[in-house]
Amino acid sequence: MQIPDSFISELVLRTDIVDTVSQYMDLKRRGSSYKGLCPFHGEKTPSFTVSAEKQLFHCFGCGAGGDVISFVMRAESIDFIEAVKLLAGRAGMQAPEIDDGGASAAKGRVLELNRAAARWFHECLKTDTGANARKYVIERGLDPRTVKRFGIGYAPAGWDGVIKAMSALGFTKQELLDAGLALTGSKKDGFYDRFRNRLMFPIIDLREQVIAFGGRALDGSGAKYLNSPETMVFSKSRNLYALNFAKKSKRRAVLLAEGYMDVVSLHQAGVDFAVASLGTALTETQAALIKKYADKVYLAYDSDSAGRTAAERAIGILAKHDLSVRVIRLDGAKDPDEYIRRFGPDAFEKALEACESHIEYKLTDIAAKFDMKEAEQRLSYIKEAVAVLAGLDSLAEASVYSAKAAEIAGVDANVVDIEVKRERALLLRNEDKKTRRRELSPVKNFSPQTREVKYSDFRSARAEEELIALISSEPSAMAQAEDLEQGDFTSDLLGRLYSSFQRQYELGLPVTLGGLAGEFSASEMSHISAILSRPHNIGNVADQIRQYTEAIKLESTMRNARQSDTDESVQLITEEMSRKKGGGGTQ
Ligand code: UTP
Ligand code: MN
Repeated sequence: MQIPDSFISELVLRTDIVDTVSQYMDLKRRGSSYKGLCPFHGEKTPSFTVSAEKQLFHCFGCGAGGDVISFVMRAESIDFIEAVKLLAGRAGMQAPEIDDGGASAAKGRVLELNRAAARWFHECLKTDTGANARKYVIERGLDPRTVKRFGIGYAPAGWDGVIKAMSALGFTKQELLDAGLALTGSKKDGFYDRFRNRLMFPIIDLREQVIAFGGRALDGSGAKYLNSPETMVFSKSRNLYALNFAKKSKRRAVLLAEGYMDVVSLHQAGVDFAVASLGTALTETQAALIKKYADKVYLAYDSDSAGRTAAERAIGILAKHDLSVRVIRLDGAKDPDEYIRRFGPDAFEKALEACESHIEYKLTDIAAKFDMKEAEQRLSYIKEAVAVLAGLDSLAEASVYSAKAAEIAGVDANVVDIEVKRERALLLRNEDKKTRRRELSPVKNFSPQTREVKYSDFRSARAEEELIALISSEPSAMAQAEDLEQGDFTSDLLGRLYSSFQRQYELGLPVTLGGLAGEFSASEMSHISAILSRPHNIGNVADQIRQYTEAIKLESTMRNARQSDTDESVQLITEEMSRKKGGGGTQ
């Protein structure tokens, strides 16, 4: 997985981090850096910063940080190579042939296999073997156009239908296993179809590639729905069923349902912005994905208690990603599919129009806990409602719903409004203080340590952090620090970073974090960006460098001395033991 260093440095030189980040969020200039609301966690006062000079971003709130490539990796939920390719495309650079040890070739084969299998399943639905499945499809009200559009198919009941058909097309056993279409085990010579006697829903990603399948049981054996496992081309937490269609909808909205059948029914009924999370609770990555195509999400989860709990969780995640949420009430039906079947597409459209905002939903929900005839209880209700309303992003929204809460409690709208404003002011002031405190945390503070980044020797690590920060703001300091070696650092991470800086310096490149995303993990990048973003008082650079270098050297020498002491004593003990052995013999 090597991309030449020269390519990365060229890419970083041609890519402006401020421009790139601005494509994803609003940035405002503040002195020498830029600030905005962090796209990686929910916040109301900006603690996300970008420094063009240092080629880094850092959030003082959630700690995320790194270079422009790390940013794109996070924002797009893609890996390093994909981010480099994407940025190279934007910068008009030809991405180099990347030697990934055959991984992308294998991926390509799995995608080809998936597509061929989808086609074969779809054909099976049309032939004799698929007679029962066809009947089932009709019973469920799907018309032929829908079946075709979604590529719905049938996996026959035998043990090796897809294996045989795909082998005939030249796909290997390993490829069938890689795609998750076949399993090994005790049955049928240890190699058999995963999907048997199931209605098949191909899962298609945004590049129109078949990445996986969902299969519905037709005979009540096994799980009702069986999904492809995680494969080299499929991660269920990063994809949404039917987003390939929904992204083309004219509306900047997404309707989120629970099941495959719901989504298919909804599209057939004209709701062309329906998607489903793939048999899992909604993930942050999925929410971020939705945000690319929508500003509003209609939740149409099942109306049972599991569905309601899932909706509550989803609301939190979606709101965090700045999506406004509406909850559709499906009275008289279990799920959207059933609702449409029972009451028709028009009724669903009405439910869609009538649905309450999640705030209204919450206000009604809270109200259910109190008896509004009692003055005490009305007060308690207002208190809880105010807490919810004060947390809203926009003041306008807060006012609108204050009126609603007042109506529910049967009090004057002004009363609630004033309470909400007071509470908001308090919240904002606290949050502001918190961010400011974090930003101005004294230089002496260490960056938070994680499982991945731990210091074994704090005295040395402090000097190492300071030295690194100094070099990044005064690259010329490198010349003076040059007799330090990576091995002198107690922190493996800081030692590696030092050696990267050294390399940049020697090549005459800017000494920055820019382009290092390929060498450090996301959490390491965050750790480093924290160090480089802290305010450092630069005094006499030469003096400081000398001081830090000496401290690091001293620690390193002492460590080596201790080490050789230990080595010596190990040798002594070994000698002693072998002498004893030789003398007394073993027992
Ligand atoms: P439901 O059990 O609500 O099924 O599962 P459904 O969508 O109403 O299906 P029909 O109408 O009976 O055909 C909702 C979703 O949860 C996942 C699937 O993604 C399904 O669409 N699921 C459910 C599984 O992954 N495995 C299961 O065994 C059941
Ligand atoms: Mn259903």
